[in-house]
Amino acid sequence: MSKLRIGVFGAGRGKTMMSVLAKHPDATLVAVCDKHTSLLEEVRAMAERHGLDVALYEDFDAFFQHDMDAVVLANYANEHAPYAISFLRSGRHVLSEVLPCETMAQAVELIEAVEESGKVYAYAENYCYMQQTFEMWRRYENGDVGEVQYAEGEYIHDCSSRWPHLTWNDPNHWRNRMFSTFYCTHSLGPILAMTRRRPVQVVGFETPPHPGMVALGCQSGIAGGAVEMVTLDNGAVVKSIHGTLKREPSSVNFQLYGLTGMMETARFDRTKLTVYKEGENFCEGQLDEYAPSPFIASDLMHKIGVKGHSGSDFFATHFFIEKILGRPDGEKYSIDVYSAVDMGICGILAYRSVLNGNAPVRVPNLRNKEERDAYRNDHACTNPAVAKEQLLPLTPHTMPEIPPEMAAKAARVPRD
Ligand SMILES: NC(=O)c1ccc[n+]([C@@H]2O[C@H](COP(=O)([O-])OP(=O)(O)OC[C@H]3O[C@@H](n4cnc5c(N)ncnc54)[C@H](O)[C@@H]3O)[C@@H](O)[C@H]2O)c1
Repeated sequence: MSKLRIGVFGAGRGKTMMSVLAKHPDATLVAVCDKHTSLLEEVRAMAERHGLDVALYEDFDAFFQHDMDAVVLANYANEHAPYAISFLRSGRHVLSEVLPCETMAQAVELIEAVEESGKVYAYAENYCYMQQTFEMWRRYENGDVGEVQYAEGEYIHDCSSRWPHLTWNDPNHWRNRMFSTFYCTHSLGPILAMTRRRPVQVVGFETPPHPGMVALGCQSGIAGGAVEMVTLDNGAVVKSIHGTLKREPSSVNFQLYGLTGMMETARFDRTKLTVYKEGENFCEGQLDEYAPSPFIASDLMHKIGVKGHSGSDFFATHFFIEKILGRPDGEKYSIDVYSAVDMGICGILAYRSVLNGNAPVRVPNLRNKEERDAYRNDHACTNPAVAKEQLLPLTPHTMPEIPPEMAAKAARVPRD
């Protein structure tokens, strides 16, 4: 069998997927596109190290014409859907980095592009495959804690020391302008993936923006924290929290309460998981704390050697390949377009809740064709180029004055 020929769009985060493709037995990297030539030079060096023939493109249209079976979208987080739709319609499979879409209209169009093309769309929400979350998924599926009643997902990452680098000093970079609840799938995604439950309602909250982030150029609610309180289709409640709140190291934490037990990741030790299973009598059971390891493809993961983000960075690309090849692990664990959209639209709709005094907002089931028309022309977001007359404010908060000590801290951050 010849290897799948896969291209990567975006050579920052995209290098993670390139590293998996460079050594994967069933796929190979054939083309990369990025307008930053410094990144393309890094890819050229990597390709030489691996003895790969990789075409490098600064121009997207030329990259799009390259002969490839599939593409990884690691371009701007708010621009994945339009590119995914074009690639699907051209007959290519798509692995999309986070987030799946910027608007409700894009969510509908993306789903329909997948359905009409018959191609594989996979969502690279790697936080579903971290050692602890993937083990929670396995234990939940095994029935070890019973049906979910309540869960929490947390992704707190203060990126201020790298902000000018992450935004290329561009005031219009998505990281400077996205609405507060946009980047919600690292915290919410694993809970939806492991329970296979659907969100039916969301309430959103946004903290006041941090003046240090504002001093670094952040113009939206991403300068603070955001919360989505999500109701699932069985009545269970999930709290998802994310943003640039102060703490070190960054936090990736999950807990889930079921009818017969609970699971919780260790707050500061990224390797540990605690599981409580109730026994024959109420309030009596077994409590285990342990460091889980991958239960699927662990030999290949170690051989390929891509273990970033608590081991998760290998799996999104691996399951995408497995799904294209029709293999059971890919069918089971690759995140499809419906789950991706469920994860992403909770953030889009939570922002409407934020702007409406935290009023609950219904989350549609876009699997149902009859629910789609209401959102087909819904372009509301904080990006003027996409929203046009439906433009939303960057935050409901008044941007804070920047105290001199914060301005001085921001001035000390390297600008590359
Ligand atoms: N899953 C994770 O753990 C994780 C971690 C970091 C980033 N990400 C995601 O990866 C994606 C990329 O993030 P990033 O950190 O690399 O920063 P980024 O968003 O700045 O990088 C996007 C890259 O795509 C290139 N690009 C975009 N549009 C282009 C065009 N039309 N033509 C040529 N090049 C173009 C840019 O030059 C840039 O290098 C984002 O979606 C982000 O959310 C995910």
